[in-house]
Amino acid sequence: MRGLKGKCIVVTGAASGIGWACAHRLIAEGARVVGADIVDLPAGPLGPSGKPVTKRSWEFHLVDIADEGSVLQLVASAGRFGGRIDGLVNAAGVASGGPVHMLPAEEWDRVLRVNLTGTYLVAKHVINAMLGQPSVEGSRGAVVTVASIEGLEGTAGGSVYSASKGGVVILTKSMAIDYAGRGIRVNARCMSRLHRHSDDAAGVRGARVGAVESQCDR
Ligand SMILES: NC(=O)c1ccc[n+]([C@@H]2O[C@H](COP(=O)([O-])OP(=O)(O)OC[C@H]3O[C@@H](n4cnc5c(N)ncnc54)[C@H](O)[C@@H]3O)[C@@H](O)[C@H]2O)c1
Repeated sequence: MRGLKGKCIVVTGAASGIGWACAHRLIAEGARVVGADIVDLPAGPLGPSGKPVTKRSWEFHLVDIADEGSVLQLVASAGRFGGRIDGLVNAAGVASGGPVHMLPAEEWDRVLRVNLTGTYLVAKHVINAMLGQPSVEGSRGAVVTVASIEGLEGTAGGSVYSASKGGVVILTKSMAIDYAGRGIRVNARCMSRLHRHSDDAAGVRGARVGAVESQCDR
């Protein structure tokens, strides 16, 4: 990751796991990060020196990505914080599943609402902001969605989770086609199993950052 110094990047799901690790790494690369999550974050990511990050490089908002009004507020805040929005990592998501005959319809709706509709809502409003800003060296911005290998291959009991991530893959491909000619790159990361927040005890976040980086470096 190079050329990120001073860039404003929105990261959802920033209170834990992959989102938190991405925020940490982006700040270490010199980016200014607007983190968002539905749960509060007691302490921000650490900077490259291991010290808490400054207000200039980090801002955090409580946001529900499944709620369009909440997403609109996040995007407006990010625009004020950074002057423009150069990037998005949409890492917020929920895990769930079970064979379909055992899956309540409410759970189907909940998972699709967060993982697929939420991805659409955040991308929609960030891309709208990017389209309204001048391009810099041919780029208006970059969007990364977080899908999963389960969205490509399915898995036992994956049902709604796999369906939601498969939807994210196809949505991402469509957005990439729609906006490539307007200076916005859109890509999905399809990762396999990493450590989860709930698996963790103390000291876990460092391990998780390494896991994310090793996937990114492939
Ligand atoms: N961990 C894995 O093995 C793995 C593998 C492939 C893909 N993924 C995907 O990566 C992403 C991050 O996963 P993780 O392992 O870091 O999980 P995690 O649970 O540690 O982090 C997800 C974050 O999203 C937040 N979130 C949930 N619903 C939200 C909402 N409506 N609005 C805003 N924030 C919300 C949660 O509060 C949480 O902080 C998810 O989309 C997940 O599906 C994870």
